[in-house]
Formats: sequence, C-alpha cells, structure tokens
Amino acid sequence: MVDDAHGFGTLGKTGAGAGEEQGVQDDIDVYFATFAKSMAGIGAFFAADKDIIQYLQYNMRSQMFAKSLPMAMVKGALKRLDMLRTMPELKEKLWENTNALQSGLKENGFNIGKTNTCVTPVFLEGDIPEAMAMVHDLRENYGVFCSIVVYPVIPKGMILLRLIPTAAHTLEDVSETIIAFSNMRDKLEKGVYKRLAASMA
Ligand SMILES: Cc1ncc(COP(=O)(O)O)c(C=O)c1O
Repeated sequence: MVDDAHGFGTLGKTGAGAGEEQGVQDDIDVYFATFAKSMAGIGAFFAADKDIIQYLQYNMRSQMFAKSLPMAMVKGALKRLDMLRTMPELKEKLWENTNALQSGLKENGFNIGKTNTCVTPVFLEGDIPEAMAMVHDLRENYGVFCSIVVYPVIPKGMILLRLIPTAAHTLEDVSETIIAFSNMRDKLEKGVYKRLAASMA
C-alpha cells in the first residue's frame, strides 16, 4: 500500500508518482493520494483491483451516507489531472522552484530533513504558540503562507513548518521566501515570538 500524497503529480517521468520514479509502479497493490497537494483541492483517491475498491467503498467511514466529494471538486480534479498529463512544463517549473527553495534554505543553515519531494519541511525549535505567532508574522508582514505541523505528528518542543512551492511561483518569490525565513529565524532566536505569543494569550 502506498500513500503517495507528496509524489502524485510530481514524481516520475510522467508524474505518475513514487512508484514510477522508483520503477515499481506495477508492484503496488493499493495506491492512494490526496487531492490537497499537486491537485490543489481537497479530497483524495485510491486505485486498486476492483474487489479491493468495492470493499473499501462499502466499508470506509468517509463513504457512508452522503459524504462523497462535491461535484465541483470532482470536475476540478479531472481538469487538473488533464493538466498534469498534458502540461509537463508545469512539473518542470515546480521542480525548478523546489530545487531553488531547498538548496537556498540549506545554504542558509535551515534543517529541512531528508526531503526528496516538493513539499518542503523546515524544522525549528519552539512551542506551538510561538509557531502560531511566527506563521502570522510570515503571512502578514512577508506575504508568505505556510502551515504548521504540530504534536503528535512531530515530537513536543519542535516546530515543523511546511512550504509548498508551486509552478505558479517565480524564482523571485523563492528568494523572498528565503529572506523572510532568515528574518523569522532571527526573531525566533531573540524570543520575539515568545513575547508576542504571551501578549496575545
Ligand atoms: C503522507 C500524507 N498522507 C496524507 C496526508 C493528508 O492528506 P489530506 O489533507 O487530504 O487528509 C498528508 C498531508 O499532508 C500527507 O503528507
């Protein structure tokens, strides 16, 4: 079973995902991925043999009653699938931005773990209120939106910010992001976000 949330649309020659990238596509029994990354939407899909799909359709909590995806989301996903298949230049641009972002962050001393997909983690030390003050500052004062991943996905006392570069970004956007992150780290180390978080509590 492969949860290819990060690889679908971005990895492999045709963007078919981690299986294609690693030459094992045909060995995957159940393949699933979210629509929240390369498909820029919400929802998800799974692909498997018919009997497995039928079992899941009748047994998954999200498939009970009236909780199927809204039609607007389905139409949007179909359009984006078509774009992933017919516009390889989008994937190329995405990787150009991703490589510039990840190498720029590393050169500036950020810990981005061992990522090999476009979704770019940045590990910092601090608590959740500090992280919230930080992403607020990033969004309001630097024009950079990113989400926080919190405990229990990561250990307590750690902050994991997630940057998602897209094909619509420019290399200037990437440079601005790296400068914003460097400024933000200075403030974090000086305790600015701790004080901000305390004043908002
Ligand atoms: C590996 C992996 N699986 C699943 C998900 C969740 O996707 P969704 O937001 O559609 O629940 C994520 C989201 O970040 C993910 O990284």
